[in-house]
Amino acid sequence: PAPGWAIDADVVVVGSGVAGLTAALRCTAAGLRTVVVTKANLDDGSTRWAQGGIAAALGEGDTPEQHRDDTLVAGAGLCDEEAVRLLVTEGPDAVRRLIETGADFDRTAGGEIALTREGGHHRRRIAHAGGDATGAEISRALVEAIRDRGVRFIEHALVLDLLTDAAGRTAGVTLHVMGEGQHDGVGAVHAPAVVLATGGMGQVFSATTNPGVSTGDGVALALRAGAEVSDLEFVQFHPTVLFLGAGSEGQQPLVSEAVRGEGAHLVDAGGVRFMLGQHELAELAPRDIVAKAITRRMREQGADHMYLDARHFGAAMWAERFPTILAACRAHGIDPVTEPIPVAPAAHYASGGVRTDLSGRTTVPGLYACGEVACTGVHGANRLASNSLLEGLVFAERIAEDIAARAPRAAGAPVPHPAPVTLPLPVAGARIRIQRVMTAGAGVLRSAQSLREAAEALDALHEDALAGGTDDSKAAAPGVEAWETTNLLCVARVLVAAARRREETRGCHWREDHPERDDAAWRRHLVVRLTPERA
Ligand code: SIN
Repeated sequence: PAPGWAIDADVVVVGSGVAGLTAALRCTAAGLRTVVVTKANLDDGSTRWAQGGIAAALGEGDTPEQHRDDTLVAGAGLCDEEAVRLLVTEGPDAVRRLIETGADFDRTAGGEIALTREGGHHRRRIAHAGGDATGAEISRALVEAIRDRGVRFIEHALVLDLLTDAAGRTAGVTLHVMGEGQHDGVGAVHAPAVVLATGGMGQVFSATTNPGVSTGDGVALALRAGAEVSDLEFVQFHPTVLFLGAGSEGQQPLVSEAVRGEGAHLVDAGGVRFMLGQHELAELAPRDIVAKAITRRMREQGADHMYLDARHFGAAMWAERFPTILAACRAHGIDPVTEPIPVAPAAHYASGGVRTDLSGRTTVPGLYACGEVACTGVHGANRLASNSLLEGLVFAERIAEDIAARAPRAAGAPVPHPAPVTLPLPVAGARIRIQRVMTAGAGVLRSAQSLREAAEALDALHEDALAGGTDDSKAAAPGVEAWETTNLLCVARVLVAAARRREETRGCHWREDHPERDDAAWRRHLVVRLTPERA
């Protein structure tokens, strides 16, 4: 559909998690006319759900170099070392600036920032807030700052496509606003700089810790715009997600790594601690190793979950340190004070995404990406726990500096997009089919056969969509669900293609038929750029 209205800005930020709101605040502070557009409310999205915290070398005796070393080990040979260096050296000050912005972190009795441990960290390095409600506190502080500083924002606005000018430079975005009043329906924000901060794509799988809004919108938009996307095969599965019964679908409650950081044990149904002897850090091994060990044990024992035992914390510590998790468990009839918590891995984080340089620039001039949607190179084949909020902060600041340093120019007149803006929309019920296909074929454990079956099923859905779409697709303004499903299908197909090509096991990509890491052939990235016809 053609945009029915348009507004002008210097920068449009798409998404309102830690990355998007930090970028918006810094751009505003630099005097840039900034508009935030977000698909739901300002405080929806993944940031709000982050529990464990934010990693930075803030503790006595810790150094950015030690943080770097842990990040590189987790990344399994595929991190960009310069990006990691920037993350860990700029991280501590970025956290301090977040505190200045208003985020209130937990403190020790002596007034220092309280730090916990998580998988893959050799030190206590994770700052947290409200016990296990770190993301909620960060989101609250940033949303409040956005409102206080009068940053313009449009909620319930799903971004459809990037606009470019005749020279191929960014000229803004088209969006579909599901609201009332002035900016309703399909419109455009014209701006020479667009920051994608749309978060992840966990909803491409049946069971995920991600909220319903995490549908890969930014990666899909970038692919349609001809930007390079990298490392999509590296989907991180969080080892300990509350197990709600076989076949549970959608967002599942996380049981933070910090619970293991404070001493919880992983046990099987017989009470055996199966992480002992598997890794020097036992339950605090990097996340991919713990997720694999749980999956193996489940297979050996024909079980659909394992247990996390933290009864020894006692009622007071549970209430004070992990109130969110305690409440979630109790809401599902489990009392972690008196019984072990049933847990299983679920999709959690996209380590890959839209490829950027160290200033967050993508391969399309004027288009930036930040946070989970981006692939800056800091995560490699497997993100280290609690590096994601930090990445959002550090690279958002770098992006704002880069945009401000280039004298804001007027957006060039947008030229019609080479691909039709109205996309073929997948058939009814496609979303749930995509999720089931992906979980069965491209989940924790993959093989050539499982991935081929997934690819065939996704291709069939794509063909069906091209052949007709839904009734919804014929409406003047298709619903959000239809757009999101289109995006899910787009990213699922690219993810599966990358996972088929990478014939080795590395980081969070686990190929049963290629169980070894193969540095000679595969210490490299898979970079994808779609031509308009293929998008
Ligand atoms: C957690 O609290 O376990 C999640 C931390 C993360 O994903 O980095």
